[in-house]
Amino acid sequence: MATDRAVTGGLPDRLRQRIRLTGPMTVADYMLAALADPVDGYYMRGDPFGRAGDFVTAPEISQMFGELIGLWCAHCWQAMGRPDAVHLVELGPGRGTLMADLLRAAQAWPAFLAALDIHLVEISPALRAVQQATLARRAPGIRAAWHGDMGALPAGPMLLVANEFFDALPMHQFVWTERGWRERLIETDGEAFRFTLAAAATPMAALLPAALSAPAAGAVAEVSPATLSFAALIGRRVASQGGAALIVDYGAGESGLGDSLQALRRHRRHAVLDQPGQADLTAHVDFQVLARSAREAGATCHGPLAQGLFLTRLGIAERARRLARQASAAQVLDIESARRRLIEPEQMGSLFKALAIAHPALATPAGFAGGGDDVRTDR
Ligand SMILES: C[S@@+](CC[C@H](N)C(=O)[O-])C[C@H]1O[C@@H](n2cnc3c(N)ncnc32)[C@H](O)[C@@H]1O
Repeated sequence: MATDRAVTGGLPDRLRQRIRLTGPMTVADYMLAALADPVDGYYMRGDPFGRAGDFVTAPEISQMFGELIGLWCAHCWQAMGRPDAVHLVELGPGRGTLMADLLRAAQAWPAFLAALDIHLVEISPALRAVQQATLARRAPGIRAAWHGDMGALPAGPMLLVANEFFDALPMHQFVWTERGWRERLIETDGEAFRFTLAAAATPMAALLPAALSAPAAGAVAEVSPATLSFAALIGRRVASQGGAALIVDYGAGESGLGDSLQALRRHRRHAVLDQPGQADLTAHVDFQVLARSAREAGATCHGPLAQGLFLTRLGIAERARRLARQASAAQVLDIESARRRLIEPEQMGSLFKALAIAHPALATPAGFAGGGDDVRTDR
Protein backbone atom coordinates (compact mmCIF):
# COMPACT_ATOMS: atom_id res chain seq x y z
CA MET A 1 0.00 0.00 0.00
CA ALA A 2 1.17 3.53 -0.73
CA THR A 3 1.86 5.67 2.28
CA ASP A 4 1.26 9.42 2.51
CA ARG A 5 4.77 9.76 3.85
CA ALA A 6 6.19 8.96 0.41
CA VAL A 7 4.18 11.81 -1.16
CA THR A 8 4.54 14.50 1.45
CA GLY A 9 8.01 13.68 2.76
CA GLY A 10 10.04 10.52 2.63
CA LEU A 11 11.76 9.80 -0.65
CA PRO A 12 11.24 13.10 -2.56
CA ASP A 13 12.56 15.06 0.42
CA ARG A 14 15.53 12.77 0.81
CA LEU A 15 16.34 13.03 -2.90
CA ARG A 16 16.13 16.85 -2.77
CA GLN A 17 18.45 16.85 0.21
CA ARG A 18 20.87 14.49 -1.52
CA ILE A 19 20.97 16.73 -4.62
CA ARG A 20 21.55 19.80 -2.43
CA LEU A 21 24.47 18.05 -0.71
CA THR A 22 26.13 16.19 -3.58
CA GLY A 23 24.81 17.84 -6.76
CA PRO A 24 22.57 16.57 -9.58
CA MET A 25 22.06 12.79 -9.71
CA THR A 26 22.23 10.39 -12.64
CA VAL A 27 19.06 8.91 -14.15
CA ALA A 28 20.34 5.49 -12.99
CA ASP A 29 20.61 6.67 -9.37
CA TYR A 30 17.16 8.23 -9.61
CA MET A 31 15.66 4.98 -10.99
CA LEU A 32 17.37 2.93 -8.30
CA ALA A 33 16.04 5.16 -5.54
CA ALA A 34 12.53 5.42 -7.01
CA LEU A 35 12.21 1.65 -7.48
CA ALA A 36 14.35 0.09 -4.78
CA ASP A 37 14.81 2.57 -1.93
CA PRO A 38 14.57 0.20 1.07
CA VAL A 39 11.78 2.26 2.67
CA ASP A 40 9.90 4.17 -0.03
CA GLY A 41 10.96 2.45 -3.28
CA TYR A 42 8.13 1.55 -5.63
CA TYR A 43 8.73 -2.21 -5.40
CA MET A 44 9.05 -2.09 -1.61
CA ARG A 45 5.50 -0.89 -1.15
CA GLY A 46 3.56 -3.99 -2.08
CA ASP A 47 1.77 -5.46 -5.06
CA PRO A 48 1.58 -3.13 -8.08
CA PHE A 49 0.31 -5.80 -10.53
CA GLY A 50 -3.03 -6.47 -12.16
CA ARG A 51 -6.10 -4.48 -13.11
CA ALA A 52 -6.28 -2.78 -9.71
CA GLY A 53 -2.55 -1.97 -9.76
CA ASP A 54 -0.33 0.00 -12.11
CA PHE A 55 0.48 -2.47 -14.90
CA VAL A 56 -0.18 -6.00 -16.13
CA THR A 57 2.58 -8.42 -17.13
CA ALA A 58 2.33 -11.48 -19.41
CA PRO A 59 2.01 -14.08 -16.60
CA GLU A 60 -0.84 -12.01 -15.13
CA ILE A 61 -2.59 -11.93 -18.51
CA SER A 62 -2.76 -15.70 -18.92
CA GLN A 63 -1.61 -18.94 -17.31
CA MET A 64 -0.53 -19.99 -20.83
CA PHE A 65 2.57 -17.80 -20.58
CA GLY A 66 4.05 -19.52 -17.50
CA GLU A 67 2.95 -22.96 -18.71
CA LEU A 68 4.76 -22.55 -22.04
CA ILE A 69 7.87 -21.34 -20.22
CA GLY A 70 7.62 -24.50 -18.09
CA LEU A 71 7.59 -26.49 -21.32
CA TRP A 72 10.63 -24.52 -22.51
CA CYS A 73 12.50 -25.35 -19.29
CA ALA A 74 11.59 -29.05 -19.51
CA HIS A 75 12.89 -29.12 -23.08
CA CYS A 76 16.21 -27.55 -21.95
CA TRP A 77 16.46 -30.04 -19.09
CA GLN A 78 16.10 -32.91 -21.57
CA ALA A 79 18.75 -31.35 -23.82
CA MET A 80 21.05 -31.10 -20.77
CA GLY A 81 20.83 -34.91 -20.42
CA ARG A 82 18.11 -34.94 -17.74
CA PRO A 83 20.35 -34.11 -14.75
CA ASP A 84 19.14 -35.35 -11.34
CA ALA A 85 19.42 -31.85 -9.89
CA VAL A 86 19.13 -28.43 -11.53
CA HIS A 87 18.58 -24.99 -10.02
CA LEU A 88 15.44 -23.36 -11.38
CA VAL A 89 15.96 -19.63 -10.84
CA GLU A 90 13.57 -16.75 -11.44
CA LEU A 91 14.77 -13.15 -11.37
CA GLY A 92 12.20 -10.60 -10.22
CA PRO A 93 9.23 -12.98 -9.80
CA GLY A 94 6.58 -10.28 -9.13
CA ARG A 95 3.57 -12.06 -7.65
CA GLY A 96 5.04 -15.54 -8.22
CA THR A 97 2.42 -16.27 -10.88
CA LEU A 98 4.85 -17.34 -13.61
CA MET A 99 6.61 -19.76 -11.23
CA ALA A 100 3.29 -21.26 -10.05
CA ASP A 101 2.10 -21.82 -13.66
CA LEU A 102 5.51 -23.18 -14.68
CA LEU A 103 5.46 -25.70 -11.80
CA ARG A 104 1.92 -26.80 -12.62
CA ALA A 105 2.97 -27.47 -16.23
CA ALA A 106 6.07 -29.31 -14.97
CA GLN A 107 3.82 -31.90 -13.33
CA ALA A 108 3.54 -33.46 -16.79
CA TRP A 109 7.25 -34.46 -16.44
CA PRO A 110 7.63 -35.91 -12.92
CA ALA A 111 11.39 -36.56 -13.29
CA PHE A 112 11.90 -32.93 -14.33
CA LEU A 113 9.81 -31.64 -11.43
CA ALA A 114 11.73 -33.86 -9.00
CA ALA A 115 15.08 -32.51 -10.26
CA LEU A 116 14.17 -28.87 -9.59
CA ASP A 117 15.73 -26.90 -6.79
CA ILE A 118 13.84 -23.60 -6.83
CA HIS A 119 15.36 -20.17 -6.21
CA LEU A 120 13.67 -16.78 -6.43
CA VAL A 121 15.79 -13.64 -6.62
CA GLU A 122 13.79 -10.68 -5.32
CA ILE A 123 14.82 -7.40 -3.71
CA SER A 124 11.45 -6.48 -2.29
CA PRO A 125 10.47 -8.03 1.07
CA ALA A 126 6.83 -7.12 0.37
CA LEU A 127 6.84 -8.94 -2.99
CA ARG A 128 8.72 -11.88 -1.46
CA ALA A 129 5.80 -12.30 0.94
CA VAL A 130 3.34 -12.20 -2.00
CA GLN A 131 5.43 -14.83 -3.85
CA GLN A 132 5.58 -17.05 -0.76
CA ALA A 133 1.80 -16.87 -0.41
CA THR A 134 1.27 -17.63 -4.12
CA LEU A 135 3.53 -20.69 -4.05
CA ALA A 136 2.07 -21.95 -0.75
CA ARG A 137 -1.42 -21.72 -2.28
CA ARG A 138 -0.74 -22.84 -5.84
CA ALA A 139 2.26 -25.17 -5.49
CA PRO A 140 1.82 -26.68 -2.01
CA GLY A 141 4.66 -28.91 -0.90
CA ILE A 142 7.19 -27.23 -3.22
CA ARG A 143 10.24 -25.91 -1.37
CA ALA A 144 11.87 -22.72 -2.59
CA ALA A 145 14.67 -20.40 -1.42
CA TRP A 146 14.68 -16.61 -1.73
CA HIS A 147 17.75 -14.46 -2.36
CA GLY A 148 18.31 -10.71 -2.47
CA ASP A 149 20.84 -10.97 -5.28
CA MET A 150 21.99 -13.43 -7.90
CA GLY A 151 25.47 -13.74 -6.45
CA ALA A 152 23.98 -15.70 -3.50
CA LEU A 153 22.81 -18.62 -5.68
CA PRO A 154 24.46 -21.99 -4.97
CA ALA A 155 26.75 -23.46 -7.63
CA GLY A 156 25.48 -25.99 -10.18
CA PRO A 157 23.63 -26.23 -13.49
CA MET A 158 20.79 -23.77 -13.78
CA LEU A 159 17.66 -22.95 -15.73
CA LEU A 160 16.85 -19.26 -15.28
CA VAL A 161 13.82 -17.23 -16.32
CA ALA A 162 13.37 -13.48 -16.15
CA ASN A 163 10.23 -11.78 -17.42
CA GLU A 164 10.12 -7.97 -17.31
CA PHE A 165 13.08 -7.97 -14.94
CA PHE A 166 15.68 -6.16 -17.06
CA ASP A 167 13.36 -3.23 -17.89
CA ALA A 168 13.36 -2.35 -14.18
CA LEU A 169 17.16 -2.11 -13.94
CA PRO A 170 18.69 1.37 -13.64
CA MET A 171 20.15 2.93 -16.81
CA HIS A 172 22.11 6.08 -17.63
CA GLN A 173 20.98 8.53 -20.32
CA PHE A 174 23.15 10.71 -22.55
CA VAL A 175 22.30 13.57 -24.89
CA TRP A 176 24.37 14.28 -28.01
CA THR A 177 25.73 17.85 -27.93
CA GLU A 178 28.34 19.79 -29.91
CA ARG A 179 30.83 18.63 -27.26
CA GLY A 180 29.89 14.94 -27.66
CA TRP A 181 27.76 12.82 -25.31
CA ARG A 182 26.78 14.57 -22.10
CA GLU A 183 25.07 12.66 -19.31
CA ARG A 184 21.52 13.60 -18.42
CA LEU A 185 21.24 14.42 -14.74
CA ILE A 186 18.40 15.32 -12.40
CA GLU A 187 18.43 18.49 -10.33
CA THR A 188 15.81 20.30 -8.29
CA ASP A 189 14.60 23.89 -8.02
CA GLY A 190 14.00 23.19 -4.33
CA GLU A 191 10.59 21.67 -5.05
CA ALA A 192 10.20 19.99 -8.45
CA PHE A 193 12.78 17.72 -10.10
CA ARG A 194 14.02 18.55 -13.61
CA PHE A 195 16.56 17.33 -16.14
CA THR A 196 19.89 19.02 -16.75
CA LEU A 197 23.13 18.00 -18.49
CA ALA A 198 26.51 17.21 -16.95
CA ALA A 199 29.00 20.01 -17.63
CA ALA A 200 31.79 17.57 -18.52
CA ALA A 201 32.08 14.00 -19.80
CA THR A 202 31.15 11.28 -17.25
CA PRO A 203 32.68 7.78 -17.07
CA MET A 204 29.59 5.77 -18.08
CA ALA A 205 29.73 7.33 -21.57
CA ALA A 206 32.53 4.85 -22.28
CA LEU A 207 29.91 2.06 -22.25
CA LEU A 208 27.92 3.57 -25.15
CA PRO A 209 28.26 1.55 -28.38
CA ALA A 210 30.73 3.34 -30.71
CA ALA A 211 28.27 2.97 -33.60
CA LEU A 212 25.96 5.48 -31.90
CA SER A 213 28.42 8.39 -32.16
CA ALA A 214 27.69 11.62 -34.04
CA PRO A 215 23.88 11.48 -34.40
CA ALA A 216 21.68 14.61 -34.67
CA ALA A 217 21.99 17.16 -31.84
CA GLY A 218 19.65 16.33 -28.96
CA ALA A 219 19.59 12.57 -29.68
CA VAL A 220 19.36 10.43 -26.54
CA ALA A 221 21.30 7.21 -25.88
CA GLU A 222 20.93 4.85 -22.93
CA VAL A 223 23.18 2.35 -21.23
CA SER A 224 22.49 0.07 -18.27
CA PRO A 225 25.60 -1.21 -16.45
CA ALA A 226 23.31 -3.32 -14.23
CA THR A 227 21.98 -5.10 -17.34
CA LEU A 228 25.52 -5.78 -18.51
CA SER A 229 26.47 -7.19 -15.10
CA PHE A 230 23.43 -9.49 -14.84
CA ALA A 231 23.96 -10.68 -18.44
CA ALA A 232 27.64 -11.39 -17.75
CA LEU A 233 26.81 -13.22 -14.53
CA ILE A 234 24.18 -15.37 -16.27
CA GLY A 235 26.49 -16.01 -19.25
CA ARG A 236 29.41 -16.99 -17.02
CA ARG A 237 27.25 -19.35 -14.93
CA VAL A 238 25.63 -21.24 -17.78
CA ALA A 239 28.93 -21.43 -19.70
CA SER A 240 30.89 -22.80 -16.73
CA GLN A 241 28.24 -24.84 -14.87
CA GLY A 242 25.70 -25.70 -17.56
CA GLY A 243 22.12 -24.76 -18.31
CA ALA A 244 20.24 -21.96 -20.03
CA ALA A 245 18.39 -18.74 -19.33
CA LEU A 246 15.29 -17.25 -20.93
CA ILE A 247 14.99 -13.47 -20.89
CA VAL A 248 11.65 -11.99 -21.96
CA ASP A 249 11.26 -8.25 -21.98
CA TYR A 250 10.42 -5.27 -24.13
CA GLY A 251 12.95 -3.39 -26.16
CA ALA A 252 14.88 -3.37 -29.40
CA GLY A 253 16.80 -6.26 -30.96
CA GLU A 254 19.54 -3.83 -32.01
CA SER A 255 21.09 -0.89 -30.16
CA GLY A 256 19.60 2.44 -31.18
CA LEU A 257 18.86 5.94 -30.06
CA GLY A 258 15.87 7.24 -28.14
CA ASP A 259 14.56 8.18 -24.73
CA SER A 260 12.69 5.10 -23.46
CA LEU A 261 12.37 6.05 -19.79
CA GLN A 262 8.72 5.85 -18.81
CA ALA A 263 6.63 5.90 -15.68
CA LEU A 264 3.30 4.09 -15.30
CA ARG A 265 0.73 4.58 -12.62
CA ARG A 266 -2.73 3.00 -12.64
CA HIS A 267 -2.13 1.89 -16.25
CA ARG A 268 -1.45 5.45 -17.43
CA ARG A 269 1.69 7.31 -18.36
CA HIS A 270 2.97 9.36 -15.44
CA ALA A 271 5.59 12.14 -15.53
CA VAL A 272 8.89 10.39 -14.78
CA LEU A 273 10.11 13.05 -12.34
CA ASP A 274 6.82 13.36 -10.43
CA GLN A 275 6.45 11.68 -7.03
CA PRO A 276 9.43 9.28 -7.20
CA GLY A 277 8.49 5.97 -5.58
CA GLN A 278 4.81 6.27 -6.49
CA ALA A 279 4.98 5.03 -10.10
CA ASP A 280 6.72 2.19 -11.92
CA LEU A 281 9.78 3.36 -13.86
CA THR A 282 11.10 1.29 -16.76
CA ALA A 283 13.32 1.55 -19.82
CA HIS A 284 13.56 -0.50 -23.01
CA VAL A 285 16.02 -3.37 -22.90
CA ASP A 286 18.87 -3.25 -25.43
CA PHE A 287 18.98 -6.94 -26.41
CA GLN A 288 22.05 -6.45 -28.57
CA VAL A 289 24.29 -5.32 -25.69
CA LEU A 290 22.65 -7.79 -23.27
CA ALA A 291 23.47 -10.69 -25.65
CA ARG A 292 26.98 -9.38 -26.31
CA SER A 293 27.73 -9.24 -22.59
CA ALA A 294 26.51 -12.84 -22.09
CA ARG A 295 28.52 -14.00 -25.12
CA GLU A 296 31.67 -12.29 -23.92
CA ALA A 297 31.23 -14.28 -20.69
CA GLY A 298 31.36 -17.53 -22.70
CA ALA A 299 27.70 -18.37 -23.38
CA THR A 300 25.85 -18.80 -26.68
CA CYS A 301 22.83 -16.58 -27.38
CA HIS A 302 19.75 -17.49 -29.42
CA GLY A 303 17.46 -14.70 -30.56
CA PRO A 304 16.14 -12.21 -29.71
CA LEU A 305 12.92 -13.39 -31.22
CA ALA A 306 9.58 -11.59 -31.19
CA GLN A 307 7.45 -12.85 -28.27
CA GLY A 308 4.53 -13.61 -30.65
CA LEU A 309 6.68 -15.89 -32.80
CA PHE A 310 8.29 -17.50 -29.75
CA LEU A 311 4.97 -18.35 -28.05
CA THR A 312 3.48 -19.50 -31.35
CA ARG A 313 6.38 -21.92 -31.84
CA LEU A 314 5.96 -23.21 -28.30
CA GLY A 315 2.34 -24.04 -29.15
CA ILE A 316 0.18 -21.29 -27.64
CA ALA A 317 -2.61 -21.91 -30.17
CA GLU A 318 -2.87 -25.59 -29.18
CA ARG A 319 -2.68 -24.70 -25.47
CA ALA A 320 -5.51 -22.17 -25.91
CA ARG A 321 -7.64 -24.79 -27.72
CA ARG A 322 -7.09 -27.29 -24.91
CA LEU A 323 -8.01 -24.77 -22.23
CA ALA A 324 -11.09 -23.74 -24.20
CA ARG A 325 -12.40 -27.32 -24.22
CA GLN A 326 -13.07 -27.19 -20.46
CA ALA A 327 -14.07 -23.50 -20.36
CA SER A 328 -17.37 -21.61 -20.18
CA ALA A 329 -18.35 -19.37 -23.12
CA ALA A 330 -17.11 -16.29 -21.21
CA GLN A 331 -13.83 -18.00 -20.37
CA VAL A 332 -13.32 -18.99 -24.02
CA LEU A 333 -13.51 -15.31 -24.96
CA ASP A 334 -10.98 -14.46 -22.21
CA ILE A 335 -8.58 -17.17 -23.36
CA GLU A 336 -8.76 -15.95 -26.94
CA SER A 337 -8.30 -12.31 -25.99
CA ALA A 338 -5.29 -13.20 -23.78
CA ARG A 339 -3.73 -15.25 -26.58
CA ARG A 340 -4.09 -12.34 -28.99
CA ARG A 341 -2.75 -9.85 -26.47
CA LEU A 342 0.38 -11.96 -25.95
CA ILE A 343 1.15 -12.65 -29.60
CA GLU A 344 -0.29 -9.98 -31.89
CA PRO A 345 2.34 -7.58 -33.24
CA GLU A 346 0.39 -4.45 -32.33
CA GLN A 347 -0.05 -5.72 -28.78
CA MET A 348 2.79 -7.55 -26.96
CA GLY A 349 3.84 -9.85 -29.80
CA SER A 350 6.50 -7.71 -31.42
CA LEU A 351 7.85 -5.14 -28.92
CA PHE A 352 8.40 -7.93 -26.39
CA LYS A 353 11.21 -10.30 -27.25
CA ALA A 354 12.69 -13.57 -26.03
CA LEU A 355 16.42 -14.21 -25.78
CA ALA A 356 18.04 -17.48 -24.70
CA ILE A 357 21.50 -17.54 -23.10
CA ALA A 358 22.84 -21.09 -23.09
CA HIS A 359 25.83 -23.34 -22.59
CA PRO A 360 27.57 -23.50 -25.99
CA ALA A 361 27.12 -27.30 -26.22
CA LEU A 362 23.37 -27.22 -25.51
CA ALA A 363 21.08 -27.96 -28.48
CA THR A 364 19.12 -24.94 -29.71
CA PRO A 365 16.42 -24.30 -27.08
CA ALA A 366 12.73 -24.76 -27.97
CA GLY A 367 11.30 -21.94 -30.05
CA PHE A 368 14.63 -20.62 -31.29
CA ALA A 369 15.34 -23.11 -34.09
CA GLY A 370 14.47 -21.96 -37.58
CA GLY A 371 15.31 -18.28 -37.23
CA GLY A 372 12.74 -15.52 -37.41
CA ASP A 373 12.21 -11.97 -38.55
CA ASP A 374 14.41 -10.43 -35.91
CA VAL A 375 16.60 -13.33 -34.93
CA ARG A 376 20.28 -12.44 -34.53
CA THR A 377 22.60 -15.21 -33.48
CA ASP A 378 25.72 -13.75 -35.04
CA ARG A 379 26.26 -10.72 -32.81
C1 LIG B 1 8.02 -5.54 -13.52
S1 LIG B 1 8.22 -6.65 -12.20
C2 LIG B 1 8.07 -8.18 -13.10
C3 LIG B 1 7.46 -9.24 -12.28
C4 LIG B 1 7.23 -10.63 -12.90
N1 LIG B 1 8.45 -11.17 -13.48
C5 LIG B 1 6.13 -10.63 -13.90
O1 LIG B 1 6.37 -10.85 -15.08
O2 LIG B 1 4.97 -10.41 -13.49
C6 LIG B 1 9.91 -6.56 -11.72
C7 LIG B 1 10.29 -7.51 -10.59
O3 LIG B 1 11.71 -7.46 -10.38
C8 LIG B 1 12.01 -7.18 -9.02
N2 LIG B 1 13.31 -6.51 -9.02
C9 LIG B 1 13.61 -5.30 -9.54
N3 LIG B 1 14.94 -5.06 -9.43
C10 LIG B 1 15.49 -6.15 -8.86
C11 LIG B 1 16.83 -6.54 -8.49
N4 LIG B 1 17.86 -5.72 -8.69
N5 LIG B 1 17.04 -7.73 -7.94
C12 LIG B 1 15.99 -8.59 -7.72
N6 LIG B 1 14.68 -8.28 -8.03
C13 LIG B 1 14.45 -7.08 -8.59
C14 LIG B 1 10.82 -6.37 -8.57
O4 LIG B 1 10.69 -6.28 -7.18
C15 LIG B 1 9.69 -7.17 -9.25
O5 LIG B 1 9.41 -8.38 -8.58
